[in-house]
Amino acid sequence: MRTTTAPTIRLSDYQEPPFWIDTVDLFFDLHPTKTRVHSKITFRANPSRSGDGPHDLRLDGRGLKLLSASIDGTELEDGLIDFDDEGLTLKSEYIPQSGFEWDAVVQINPEANTALEGLYMSNGMYCTQCEAQGFRKITYFLDRPDVMATYRVQINGDMPVKLSNGNPINAGIWHDPWKKPAYLFALVAGDLVSYDDGFTTGSGKHVDLKIYVRPGDEGKCAYAMDALKRSMRWDEQVYGREYDLDIFQIVAVDDFNMGAMENKGLNIFNSKYVLASPETATDRDYELIEGIIAHEYFHNWTGNRITCRDWFQLCLKEGLTVFRDQQFSGDMRSHAVKRIDDVLMLRARQFREDAGPLAHPVRPEEYIEINNFYTATVYEKGAEVIGMLKTLVGDEGYSKALDLYFERHDGQACTIEDWIKVFEDACETDLSQFKLWYSQAGTPHLSAEETFSNGTYTLKLAQETKPTPGQDEKSPVVLPLRLAAYSQSGQEIISERVEVLRDVQAEIAFDGLSEKPILSLNRGFSAPVTLGLKQSNADRLLLMAHDTDPFNAWEAGYRTGMNMIVGMVLNDDAPDPEFIEAIGTIMSDSSRDPAYRALAIGLPTEDAIAAELSSRNHLVDATLVNECRNTVLDALAAIHSDRCEALFDTMKVEGPYSPAAQDAGQRALQGVALSLISRQDGGALATQSFETADNMTQSQAALTNLIRLEKAEKQLATFYGRWKSDKLVTDKWFALQAIAAPSAHAVETTNALSQHADFQWKNPNRFRSLFGGFASNQAAFHRADGAGYTLLTDWLIKLDAVNPQTTARMVGLFETWRRNTKDRQEKIAACLDRIASNPDISKDTAEIIGKIRAAK
Ligand code: TRP
Ligand code: ZN
Repeated sequence: MRTTTAPTIRLSDYQEPPFWIDTVDLFFDLHPTKTRVHSKITFRANPSRSGDGPHDLRLDGRGLKLLSASIDGTELEDGLIDFDDEGLTLKSEYIPQSGFEWDAVVQINPEANTALEGLYMSNGMYCTQCEAQGFRKITYFLDRPDVMATYRVQINGDMPVKLSNGNPINAGIWHDPWKKPAYLFALVAGDLVSYDDGFTTGSGKHVDLKIYVRPGDEGKCAYAMDALKRSMRWDEQVYGREYDLDIFQIVAVDDFNMGAMENKGLNIFNSKYVLASPETATDRDYELIEGIIAHEYFHNWTGNRITCRDWFQLCLKEGLTVFRDQQFSGDMRSHAVKRIDDVLMLRARQFREDAGPLAHPVRPEEYIEINNFYTATVYEKGAEVIGMLKTLVGDEGYSKALDLYFERHDGQACTIEDWIKVFEDACETDLSQFKLWYSQAGTPHLSAEETFSNGTYTLKLAQETKPTPGQDEKSPVVLPLRLAAYSQSGQEIISERVEVLRDVQAEIAFDGLSEKPILSLNRGFSAPVTLGLKQSNADRLLLMAHDTDPFNAWEAGYRTGMNMIVGMVLNDDAPDPEFIEAIGTIMSDSSRDPAYRALAIGLPTEDAIAAELSSRNHLVDATLVNECRNTVLDALAAIHSDRCEALFDTMKVEGPYSPAAQDAGQRALQGVALSLISRQDGGALATQSFETADNMTQSQAALTNLIRLEKAEKQLATFYGRWKSDKLVTDKWFALQAIAAPSAHAVETTNALSQHADFQWKNPNRFRSLFGGFASNQAAFHRADGAGYTLLTDWLIKLDAVNPQTTARMVGLFETWRRNTKDRQEKIAACLDRIASNPDISKDTAEIIGKIRAAK
């Protein structure tokens, strides 16, 4: 166990700092192991704290070697400064209380920085990651988001490209005129080339656009650039937000803990979310690039111009920016498909989080390590909450509220209270109950009971949220529920309306109906709840065919499939022929768009089935779940073999590859057909498809099927030989084998891959590819002898010593351990204890392990 326990930080302890910072001047002398950072910082008294002074100067700093420091030009002698692990303190008697200039030189070692936070090196290039608290690893500072300053940066060194935030002044000199918190600081230097373009804003200002990559990767930037220009235009048209500097730059780096980072004017991206060519990137990769480019760009207004007062308000920028990128992707592609994808993700990751030991409110109230709170709850549930607000106040109200938000808070560091207040003011509404969504953890369960007599249909709604760790009492939340209903012949007999449930229970009645309606409730997933509504399979199949809300049409089929598989697992049921037939009907329904059909045919994942079993209080035998799901897939494959063959042909895309939604949808549906055919033809078609593929979507689909059939030896060698010098494709080579290897020997396969010369485990993409892929192979990961758990544990312990952030995230793979059979639970507990007993465990990992282990 850690000997020193890290402190818990609380929202209720928030206090403004005693000093603000106006300007920051930074001079970097870059060196791989001895970089010098010279800072000149002007501090000014914070009037609201002058009453409780005089104040010491407390600066955050980690792993810094202070070479010199002065205040207003007077060198600080040795012994005046108190150093500790987290920074330095200078007694108030040495601090001019009205304000002063701090001047300091520190030395840091970028090459030794494997945590990828602060200033580090990736492939010989210097780069930074400062969110959330990385700036304190670069120099001493008030490293908190409410301290906003303008920056001037000078980078010295022999690198051909030297970048920082803002506008360029001279070679290696940058000035950012917009006040920003330190977490948005960025610096990049290296041997890079740029892919250039330009954009003219709505008001006629020219902006240089540059994407920096390693020489050789210039050919893979066009799509990201196109997505950037579309994002810029969209934010002008939909939110009235224009870009505000002369230049916007994106840099792709290979070693990165997350997806991307919105540093002002200098976004830094995981190269996975920038680089794409038809031969190396899948349709899914293209879609993610588009969404993440948009997300980071949108942060310029929601995050940067208006930032967070403290890290508890993280959802202020993240929830809103996710909501905005979802809107954008829906506009670019299909709203129906986007919504289904987003809800699948929300349920898989956020509902799981909310139902387990890591549950926390959208705005957490305490943390030990803030990096552990970049979660599905803050991001995805945070976005759902905004979607509900929009449903409640309407499109016009939403746009008035946002205008007011930008007008009132530009240049400020804000809170959720500020956010709620603009809606209350702009829409003249009281949101005090709505605000519970930010403070109450857990997914509400909505139950609906129907009665019908004498032409009156009565709907009894009730909501309940189960206790979550540290929160036993729950209050009813505001649930905006879009609903409609259909007749037995599929006619809409109750037209769409929004009913808002605010109480624990409510009753809604509809008169004058000639038959009991078939309810379509929570259309478009208007409220993020689990739904308890007893509906017959026949009613669901009718909705599947007739519901005009595409989300609920999909949902009806999904539910039917889920219930059927659960019945197979629990009661040894056989697959339901009616369901199998309904899926066939959708397959060949050419009136529906292919991407939608691909989703509608997709069965719930093994993980989703496990979650469903667990919510019905059954322990999960992952092997059995895998078998039952395969039985359904085999039945679909056998019964619909003709349809699949036809689909495989008709969905073929003619002409050169385009990542656009229509073609991508056809390839998705073709991929579903291929995977079913592969269950029947021994891999013949997949083999052929692999040989003729001219794009990665098709290659990957073919290869996955062959791996599953254990007939991929030759193809894996070909693939590796062709792509071994391409890191991102090599990541796929690792991932696919771990994901698709048959469960009997996936552990051995993964273990062997972890010994491969190319398994560069310190690279987060590579580590996640192999072990994230492996853990998604549920039956393998949960192999009854526990070998899967042991393998992952060995590697997590190894990774924690070099990269706590990524380790802590990956430990989350054990989050749902309590839902497995008892024998499995015991084996996982032993693994968790083994990780926790490491005396050098990081505080990131310790916090997550502690919570997971405490799960009941
Ligand atoms: N703010 C970034 C985003 O949402 C994500 C982020 C937070 C991040 N911490 C990070 C990215 C650390 C990289 C590393 O877009
Ligand atoms: Zn973000």
